[in-house]
Amino acid sequence: MARIISLCNQKGGVGKSTSCINLGTFLAALGKKILIVDIDPQANATSGIGLNPRRLEKSIYHVLIGKVASEDAIRKTPILGVDILPASSALAGAAVELVDIKNREYKLKEVLEPIRRKYDFIVIDSPPSLGLLTLNALVAAGKVIIPVQCEYYALEGLADLMRTVQLINTNLKTRTAVMGALLTMYDRKSRLHRAVAKEIRRKFPGYVFDAVIPRNVSLAEAPSFGKTILQYDPYSHGAKAYRQLAEEILRMEGIRKI
Ligand SMILES: Nc1ncnc2c1ncn2[C@@H]1O[C@H](COP(=O)(O)OP(=O)(O)O)[C@@H](O)[C@H]1O
Ligand SMILES: [Mg+2]
Repeated sequence: MARIISLCNQKGGVGKSTSCINLGTFLAALGKKILIVDIDPQANATSGIGLNPRRLEKSIYHVLIGKVASEDAIRKTPILGVDILPASSALAGAAVELVDIKNREYKLKEVLEPIRRKYDFIVIDSPPSLGLLTLNALVAAGKVIIPVQCEYYALEGLADLMRTVQLINTNLKTRTAVMGALLTMYDRKSRLHRAVAKEIRRKFPGYVFDAVIPRNVSLAEAPSFGKTILQYDPYSHGAKAYRQLAEEILRMEGIRKI
């Protein structure tokens, strides 16, 4: 049964989509079968891995509103071992359409259930808000990764999201666990970044990944070519960091590599 990991942070531009596709890619490079689920109407994970969100007839939107079975919307990606349940801009409407549906917070969890056996990991990219789509991503996940930039407000954002996960567990009877905060776009030459990173590790011991994602031009460039960092610049610092993250996650989960 696939372990389901959601990348969530209500803040935009913190590296959720970048981390989703590159973590998925390196988990696959380590021999695991991966499904990426894009539940953000901006569809950055979908385009970042090389699919055109405007050309999709079937997307997670059609699955969530019950028009298409999840198997039928899943597509292969150019990366061996990585499939995607893509997003399209139609998804923006789903947030509204889902409002009247029963068990609307559990919809994503429900549609992933029948395909869970086919994968080792399902990695979910979520929108930069705390709306219904993100709520679905949090409810569906066993574990949550919170990408954060080492800025002044990162600590508050992190504390907020941890409280939100607790609230969800209490109110929706789920058992979603925060796996950890992932420091992204880290510049080790910046005094602020170093100070904030230290403070995050002090305030949330055991909840911060050892792997740190550096600010890296190749990571920013890769999506404009529809490529992951493994295809675009496999020897970059960014690629190395995502490989370390994938290895760390396998260790935490007690899973062997290939
Ligand atoms: N480690 C990094 N170094 C440099 N640029 C990055 C890095 N991670 C992400 N980016 C760029 O920063 C922007 C925001 O990242 P993204 O993953 O889309 O964030 P989110 O999904 O949280 O909104 C994108 O343009 C992306 O290419
Ligand atoms: Mg994104």
